[in-house]
Amino acid sequence: MADSSGGARIIADYSEWRARDYFQTYYSEVVLPDEQAVLAYQVEVLRAAGKRFGRGLEYGCGPTLHRAIAASKYAFRLDMADWLADNLAAARDWLLADIDNPDWKQFTQYLLACEGQIAPTNRQIDQREAQTRKVVRGLYLSDARWQQPLGPQRNEFYDLIVSGFCLDAVSDDQRVWRRCMQNLLSMLQPGGTLIIHALHRCRAYKCGDRMFPGADLSMDDMQSVLLDGGCTQRSIDVQVIPCPNNAIYGYSGILTASAQKAPG
Ligand SMILES: C[S@@+](CC[C@H](N)C(=O)[O-])C[C@H]1O[C@@H](n2cnc3c(N)ncnc32)[C@H](O)[C@@H]1O
Repeated sequence: MADSSGGARIIADYSEWRARDYFQTYYSEVVLPDEQAVLAYQVEVLRAAGKRFGRGLEYGCGPTLHRAIAASKYAFRLDMADWLADNLAAARDWLLADIDNPDWKQFTQYLLACEGQIAPTNRQIDQREAQTRKVVRGLYLSDARWQQPLGPQRNEFYDLIVSGFCLDAVSDDQRVWRRCMQNLLSMLQPGGTLIIHALHRCRAYKCGDRMFPGADLSMDDMQSVLLDGGCTQRSIDVQVIPCPNNAIYGYSGILTASAQKAPG
């Protein structure tokens, strides 16, 4: 693809991915405004469900914990999956660490504020992170391009799936994204809830000094793939959150969506 100066931009392969680069680029300093918006959205959808989910999955977690920390209050059990062992190792390090690990504390603080604890104490932050460490069970290597990304025993297994910026980042070929979405939705129980975030109209995003692929998605793309995957029309909510300051990373908007699969 061409960059804005007309030159060729090389899209990296995930063999070149460095978990630490990703953390440093997006999560090491502040809770960026677009991340604030998607986390608030995730909390709002989870609270609105008015129940605790039995089996949750965070798919494509990368080296991050903030979506699991957000979900942990609303699920009895949470699994996490990603394609890269390096990412899962970073997640495992945090899960096995003690409460002094500082990596995700500002996110936990922000999430608690979204839930109404405007100035949470250190103890409240530690309690939520301890709850996450209890609730997360399995860490699985998985490829979203597999028809059954976690094997046949996980078909229609989860009643909650959360996935942030993963499937749209697998390839710049939108047909690949569509297939990955169907594969992901195959793991959702009838009546189950999906919360998904993707980069809006992004063909490549930055991680360290490399660019990784984006599927160049619109709101209509998200709406149609959720319908094709068996979600009910009236449950589908798709929004675009503008983030013009992130143009330096290769995108200026975030797609955030939620939906429920039709009951069986
Ligand atoms: C932009 S990161 C998102 C990480 C994290 N969910 C977040 O919100 O920051 C994209 C993730 O997709 C994962 N990924 C790339 N290709 C994949 C595939 N074929 N199957 C599953 N995960 C994949 C990468 O390993 C990476 O962790």
